[in-house]
Amino acid sequence: MGDRLKGKACIITGAAQGMGEATARLFASEGAKLALADVNIEKGEAVAKDIGGDTFFQKLDVSDNENWKHFSGAVRDKFGTIDVLVNNAGLVHFTPVEMLDPDDFNRILGVNTLGPILGTKHVTPTMKAVGKGSIINISSVDGLRGANGLTCYTASKWALRGITKCHAYELGTSGIRVNSVHPGGVNTPMGNAAGRPEEEVNQVFRRLPLGRIGRPDEIAQASLFLASDESSYITGAEIAVDGGWTAGTYLTMLPGAPEGLPI
Ligand SMILES: NC(=O)c1ccc[n+]([C@@H]2O[C@H](COP(=O)([O-])OP(=O)(O)OC[C@H]3O[C@@H](n4cnc5c(N)ncnc54)[C@H](O)[C@@H]3O)[C@@H](O)[C@H]2O)c1
Repeated sequence: MGDRLKGKACIITGAAQGMGEATARLFASEGAKLALADVNIEKGEAVAKDIGGDTFFQKLDVSDNENWKHFSGAVRDKFGTIDVLVNNAGLVHFTPVEMLDPDDFNRILGVNTLGPILGTKHVTPTMKAVGKGSIINISSVDGLRGANGLTCYTASKWALRGITKCHAYELGTSGIRVNSVHPGGVNTPMGNAAGRPEEEVNQVFRRLPLGRIGRPDEIAQASLFLASDESSYITGAEIAVDGGWTAGTYLTMLPGAPEGLPI
């Protein structure tokens, strides 16, 4: 138990599982009051109940403006203020570009990009009133580079990274900081959908400098730093928490690369 977020009212979206849940547990252990949101009511309520203390869960579809209006109002009613917003809820989507359905594009952008924009829209008046706040947008390594089959997801995560920088400029003079976190592969229902054993998954991640998949709590630590006052002079920044994925690549013909990697 620590006090790095003591008394801060924090919203975490997509908190029913994975990184959102890990972030909620870490924030609670640092003294935060938590408003958890997700479309998965059963799991979201169970997480909130298990954490206990100053924690509540309410259903929220992040892509819906009216939902956000009610949710942000409920947080203000409960805690009187909003100090931190973690825009974590997200959907992944794979498709070759020639098969791409525009409805899928709009759905993914609706959750991954419009969702954080709406969250920011609805918490900003409360944060402005006290001249302070921290907004953390969970993007991805796919907001820093490209990959085959990931048109919709990549568009949504690059956009989120760019919007983070817009909002840093727009809200900085009101004392509101806005930053993005860029996880690499993380062992969650999204990052390891088949639920394969970690050792097996790590074979795929041998090509990274740290040679393994990430844990949800390792991403949550970056959000904790950005949520706390320790990062008081950081805004508009992007933090890759990716085991070195976006740092470069191994030149397998030279010494220093792990054995057996393809060229
Ligand atoms: N797992 C990875 O490898 C990885 C890598 C990079 C970035 N990310 C990003 O990190 C974030 C968390 O991912 P995760 O791995 O924990 O995923 P996850 O699928 O395990 O959890 C995502 C949560 O978001 C919720 N959600 C989905 N749509 C929603 C909506 N419209 N409104 C509210 N909640 C909604 C889901 O119900 C779920 O509980 C996402 O934004 C994801 O894109 C994940």
